[in-house]
Amino acid sequence: MSEKQAGLNGAYYGPSIPPKRDSYQSVGRGGGPLGCCCSCIFGLVFKLIFTAIVFMGLAFFVFWLIVKPNRVKFHVTDATLTQFNFSSDSNLHYNLALNLTIRNPNKKLGIYYDRIEARANYEGQRFSTITLTPFYQGHKTTNVLNPLFTGQQLLVGSNLQSEYQKQTSAGVYEIEMKLYLRIRFKFGRIKTGKFKPRVECDLKVPLSTNGNSATIFETKRCKIDYFKAI
Ligand SMILES: *[C@@H]1O[C@H](CO)[C@@H](O)[C@H](O)[C@H]1NC(C)=O
Ligand SMILES: *[C@@H]1O[C@H](CO)[C@@H](O)[C@H](O)[C@H]1NC(C)=O
Repeated sequence: MSEKQAGLNGAYYGPSIPPKRDSYQSVGRGGGPLGCCCSCIFGLVFKLIFTAIVFMGLAFFVFWLIVKPNRVKFHVTDATLTQFNFSSDSNLHYNLALNLTIRNPNKKLGIYYDRIEARANYEGQRFSTITLTPFYQGHKTTNVLNPLFTGQQLLVGSNLQSEYQKQTSAGVYEIEMKLYLRIRFKFGRIKTGKFKPRVECDLKVPLSTNGNSATIFETKRCKIDYFKAI
């Protein structure tokens, strides 16, 4: 409609119309082969728009699948650190037991944890890597995992010993646990492809001697990042 009117306007007020419109008009008006080309273009534009809508719908579905559902929640509820000291050869001797709860709050999504790798870092350096048993988590359930980091690892760094001394006198060590996951969602009978989310837990862990520690460990909620590539 508006194009036709523009055409009419062009016919009546030719000189006052800007040149850009003029050229558009002459293409639109041409009969025969030009008109056919025009419908081809419209057909192509229609197909493009249709395809775009389908893709947007698909993208939205995937987006909904990942984001709209409630996020899975990770908490470290308890930590027992019975050994965390350096021997004279700069080896860190450690024994850290954690209670990790994973809550799937979704009514319709189950989660396959196909791979659970847990890494423990101190002052930006990894000192232990373990893998936990894969499992399936049903709708609206909470699972408790018990990662245990124990052993010794050579750690060297410029600020490492001074930070360690500081934290030793405070009685609390700042330890970071990261989870590198490979998961799939289950929606009805549909199983999605793999996702590789990362979970990061910044912990403040008191040293416990004979099962007692001066400071009580406080439950820590972990950050989860679905899209970070490993
Ligand atoms: C942590 O796990 C251990 C071993 O399963 C258990 O004895 C302890 O009660 C748990 N702590 C909390 C706070 O759930
Ligand atoms: C670390 O400390 C514990 C006691 O807290 C001690 O038994 C152990 O020998 C120490 N280890 C090293 C390597 O110093």
